[in-house]
Amino acid sequence: MPFSVAVPKEVTPGETRVALTPEVIPRMVRAGYSVTVEQGAGISAAYLDDAYAKAGATVVTDRTALFGGADVVVKVQAPTLDEIGLLHAGQVVVALMAPHRNLDKVAKLRDQKVTSFALELLPRITRAQSMDVLSSQATVAGYRAALIGAYMAPKFFPMLTTAAGTIRPARVLILGAGVAGLMAIATSKRLGAIVEGYDVRRAAGEQVRSLGARFLELQINAEGTGGYARELTDDEKKQEAAMVAKAVGEADVVITTANVPGRKAPLLVRKEMVTSMRSGSVIIDLAAESGGNVELTQPGITVDVNGVRIVGSTNLPAQLPFHASQMFAKNLEAFLKLLVTPEKTLSTDYTDEILTASLLTRNGEVLHAPTRDALAGGK
Ligand SMILES: NC(=O)c1ccc[n+]([C@@H]2O[C@H](COP(=O)([O-])OP(=O)(O)OC[C@H]3O[C@@H](n4cnc5c(N)ncnc54)[C@H](O)[C@@H]3O)[C@@H](O)[C@H]2O)c1
Repeated sequence: MPFSVAVPKEVTPGETRVALTPEVIPRMVRAGYSVTVEQGAGISAAYLDDAYAKAGATVVTDRTALFGGADVVVKVQAPTLDEIGLLHAGQVVVALMAPHRNLDKVAKLRDQKVTSFALELLPRITRAQSMDVLSSQATVAGYRAALIGAYMAPKFFPMLTTAAGTIRPARVLILGAGVAGLMAIATSKRLGAIVEGYDVRRAAGEQVRSLGARFLELQINAEGTGGYARELTDDEKKQEAAMVAKAVGEADVVITTANVPGRKAPLLVRKEMVTSMRSGSVIIDLAAESGGNVELTQPGITVDVNGVRIVGSTNLPAQLPFHASQMFAKNLEAFLKLLVTPEKTLSTDYTDEILTASLLTRNGEVLHAPTRDALAGGK
C-alpha cells in the first residue's frame, strides 16, 4: 500500500484555507504517495476539484472513508471531536492543533491511540524552516493587517502633493517586529506611510531599519532562546510602557504582533493609551487570540472606543486563503517527507528532532509535556 494522504474540507467556522493545494500534488504522486481530497475542500481558497483531479489526486465525497482510509490526514485546523471519531489507532493527523485550547480533542486523540503532530510545535531550527507554518501564516497575517489599517484609516497612507493641497503621510506603529510585524512594516512602507517599529529583541532593530522604518529603542535586550523573546521584568515593563504610550498617542494606525511562546500575549497598549489616540485611528491586534496586546481587544470582533476602532481578528490568514494555503501546502509537503520510509510507506520512526518536538499524541500517550500537565490538572 503506498503512503496515503487525505485532505478534508475544513469545517471550523471562518476557515477558508485548505491544507494541500493542487500545486504540490504532482510531486507527491511522483514520489509514490496517493492523495485523496474531499470534494469542495479547496473551493473557498479558489482551488477547484478539477484542479486537484488534474494534479493526480482522487476527489471523494465520503468523509468516513476519507478519514478512515489514509495513513495521514492533513488539516489546517485541529480535527473536531467528530472528525477524530472517524480516525483509528495508528493513523496520523497533522494540523495546527492549538493544544492548550483543545484539551478535549487532545484527550480524544490520546484515547483513540491516534498519532498527532502539532505544526506549531516545530522547532525553529534551520532544517525546519521550509516546514514553518507559523512563519508562513504570520507573513500573510502581517500583510493583511497593514491593508486593513490602510483601508480603515480615514487618511491616505502616502504623502501627496496635489492641486487640492499637500497631504501628510499617515503614521503607522508596529509593536512586535517578528515575522508578522516585519511584513506589516514592509507593506505599510510600500504604501507610503511613516512607519515605526518596536520589539524587545534588539536584533529586530536592524531588520526594522533595513525596511526603512524607525526603530523605537529601549535600553534592554530581551532576546530569549530559539529566536523568541523572554518575558520582561517589572521595571523593564514600566520603561517599555512609557515609550509605547508616547508612540501610540501619535499614531494613526497601530498594529500589534507581540507574543511570548507558551504564555499569554504581553499587554502593550493600555486603555489610557487607546483613549489618548486621535478619533478615527485604528488598532489591529494580531495577538487577539492569545489574550491580546491591547487591553480593550475583544477576539473576533471590532470594538469602537471613542472613535478609535480596535480590530480583534483571530484568523487573518483565512482572509487571503489562496496564498496562505499555497504556503501552508509547501510547508506540509516538506514535513510529510519525514513521515515516509524509503519503501514509500508510513514511517513509525519518530526520532528525528523535528518529529519528536511536534509529536503531540501517540499510542495512547500525550507526549507534549505542557499539554499533558494541563490535562492532568483538569485545566
Ligand atoms: N527557523 C528559524 O530559525 C526561525 C523561524 C521563525 C522565526 N525565527 C526568528 O524568531 C523571531 C520571532 O518569530 P515570530 O515572529 O514567530 O515570534 P512571535 O510570534 O512569538 O512574536 C512576535 C514578536 O513579538 C516580540 N515581542 C514579544 N514580547 C514583546 C514585547 N513585550 N514588546 C514588543 N515585542 C515583543 C517578539 O520578540 C517577536 O519578534 C523572528 O523574527 C525570527 O528572527 C527563527
